[in-house]
Amino acid sequence: MRIFQNVDDLGNLREALDEAFAIQKDRFQFQSLGKNRTALLIFFNNSLRTRLSTQKAAMNLGMNVIVLDVNQGAWKLETEHGVVMDGDKSEHLLEAIPVMASYCDIIGVRSFARFESRDYDYNEVILNQFIQYSGRPVFFMESATVHPLQAFADLITIEQYKKEDRPKVVMSWAPHPKALPQAVPNSFAQWMNAADVDFVVTHPKGYELDPRFVGDARVEYDQMKAFEGADFVYAKNWSCPGVTRPDDYGRVLEDYNKFLDWTVSGRQMGVTNDAFFMHCLPVRRNMIVTDDVIEAPTSLVIPEAANREISATVVLKRMLQSL
Ligand code: CP
Repeated sequence: MRIFQNVDDLGNLREALDEAFAIQKDRFQFQSLGKNRTALLIFFNNSLRTRLSTQKAAMNLGMNVIVLDVNQGAWKLETEHGVVMDGDKSEHLLEAIPVMASYCDIIGVRSFARFESRDYDYNEVILNQFIQYSGRPVFFMESATVHPLQAFADLITIEQYKKEDRPKVVMSWAPHPKALPQAVPNSFAQWMNAADVDFVVTHPKGYELDPRFVGDARVEYDQMKAFEGADFVYAKNWSCPGVTRPDDYGRVLEDYNKFLDWTVSGRQMGVTNDAFFMHCLPVRRNMIVTDDVIEAPTSLVIPEAANREISATVVLKRMLQSL
């Protein structure tokens, strides 16, 4: 595997899940695979889970790991082509990428949506430059539009905890004071569409996800109706994806205070099939979800985060095997 961006990059999903559960049982079984290999993890944005779980995954495989926080200690990078570099950016990404690649075998990149242009974000300009100019396998550690390591961990978690063969999984928009990217909901929708689940998305009108991710998933605008009989509830905020109105891309369409009834609480969880609660974290309590729901025995947020190590180990293992 040379690129990890979308669910299809894994090939057969059942085989990938079986591999994940085998690694969960013994995460050090491929220690020799990464000997004298180096993973470079590049962060343009903050992280707790992705940083730690991916480092741990690389160490599980016997790799060396270098972590670079681009905005702390490195030269400020210009990412646009053709600009006169007379500002505060000292180095161009087009030199920095091959230089960074010369020190490693596999590259992971985190670079969030900028919300300046929908086309720029949805064309994945930054990550595609890493793919084009590094000559190395590249995996997405949350880009402008996708977060596949998270979605893979989410699917592993659902498979691990499901009580029905084909569980009902509901992804619900929830209020948030700031504009957040669509990477997590895009990937979650893409992966749920590929998995054997009954998938429903619920959000207020105006927050429709890009069709290339939401596909033919059922969209239900009535949150309570969507939650009925759910086995898993996946809460997440996202800003306007700008599908029907590109000018609204990246905006919080209305004051979040008007949507506080979308906060996942006992009211909605009460109509589910005793559903498990999931969120990728970090989460704003009593905004996205109430304390009692996230602290309940049915909350999976911690095992879900722990499974980030498993998803990253599978992905790095497959990339090492492609070298
Ligand atoms: N869920 C997730 O990607 O967490 P971090 O932003 O802390 O890496």
